[in-house]
Amino acid sequence: MAKSVSGWWIDSDGSGPLTSRFRDSIPASEMGEGSLRIAVHYSAVNYKDALALTGSPGVVRKPPLIPGIDSAGVVEESSHSALPEGTPVVITGYGYGENRHGGLATAVMGEPEHVIALPPELSLHHAATLGTAGITAGLAVAALQRHGVTPESSALPIAVSGAAGGVGSLALALLSAAGYSSVAITGRVEESSYLTNLGATEVLSRDEFLTHPQRPLLGERFAGAIDQAGGDMLATLLSCVETDGVVAACGLAASADLPTTVLPFILRGVSLLGINSVFQTQAVRQDLWNHFAATVDSLHCDEIAEDIPLDKALEIAPRVLSGRTRGRVVVRVRD
Ligand SMILES: NC(=O)c1ccc[n+]([C@@H]2O[C@H](COP(=O)([O-])OP(=O)(O)OC[C@H]3O[C@@H](n4cnc5c(N)ncnc54)[C@H](OP(=O)(O)O)[C@@H]3O)[C@@H](O)[C@H]2O)c1
Repeated sequence: MAKSVSGWWIDSDGSGPLTSRFRDSIPASEMGEGSLRIAVHYSAVNYKDALALTGSPGVVRKPPLIPGIDSAGVVEESSHSALPEGTPVVITGYGYGENRHGGLATAVMGEPEHVIALPPELSLHHAATLGTAGITAGLAVAALQRHGVTPESSALPIAVSGAAGGVGSLALALLSAAGYSSVAITGRVEESSYLTNLGATEVLSRDEFLTHPQRPLLGERFAGAIDQAGGDMLATLLSCVETDGVVAACGLAASADLPTTVLPFILRGVSLLGINSVFQTQAVRQDLWNHFAATVDSLHCDEIAEDIPLDKALEIAPRVLSGRTRGRVVVRVRD
């Protein structure tokens, strides 16, 4: 008989708010469908996971649900010859932790088309450190490159907002590994040495940067930008990217609003590109994981990861939501 698992469980009584609790024994019959059973070694507390764990509506679409967008583990039951038992794998996106059980438990049921077999250069800990944030940052850097913003195309740097967070930290590391210079914009200038160590060539205080949030055009100071915040931050970045520059919008840590005008688009030809890490083809994900494997020594995963045990995931969630964790919160599911 398949083993039970322990992990986080988000539930609803149908009327009140969602509730979170740790269950020591979730029977296999409640683990959901999936033709692969994966023993989870590491997961993460992403911003969305923190929302789910604290009962915010909008992430968990079908309670009851095990949260956890990211899972890094080892296949323990499989009928697929390409993914035999013992294969180290990673899952990010595809609705895990949102509309099907995710990785904040000792096992997750997966489908082969959602799973990436880890390249040998990457450990399971690397996989969870990179996770959804790495895919998002990787897609953003690839979007800049695809639209002609390369290290050679401009003397100006790339701005990264939310720089001390998960996506921001990995964006700085990936940009540096690809030869770009970058400016970290942060609410925590006390993290300057962390940010320059990841590759930022300059660190700007968020408050100082946002001095003129309502001005539709400011001086051209960046070749492109990778934004985690939305709101005034995204509007200000659009207003100071150079002609034909590119801004990749990844997140809404500040706001879902975009208080801007069409001027950056029609007077400077600036492009605003949306990044969605959840639904990407397997081929795109595989390319990104291969790229991470080839550059892992430059990605500073050990400095970016803050490890916590599985039973502390709920406790850390409010810190994640208020932007007070640094880098990635990696959850050690098995010791
Ligand atoms: N598009 C996608 O597919 C995708 C994937 C993953 C995440 N996201 C989104 O991207 C955002 C960042 O995710 P994450 O995992 O990096 O989260 P995170 O680790 O919590 O980092 C968010 C960072 O944003 C900054 N921040 C917080 N409040 C802010 C505010 N009011 N104004 C400006 N900046 C603020 C903080 O960095 P500083 O202290 O350095 O300023 C914080 O560390 C979230 O909105 C998340 O939902 C989107």
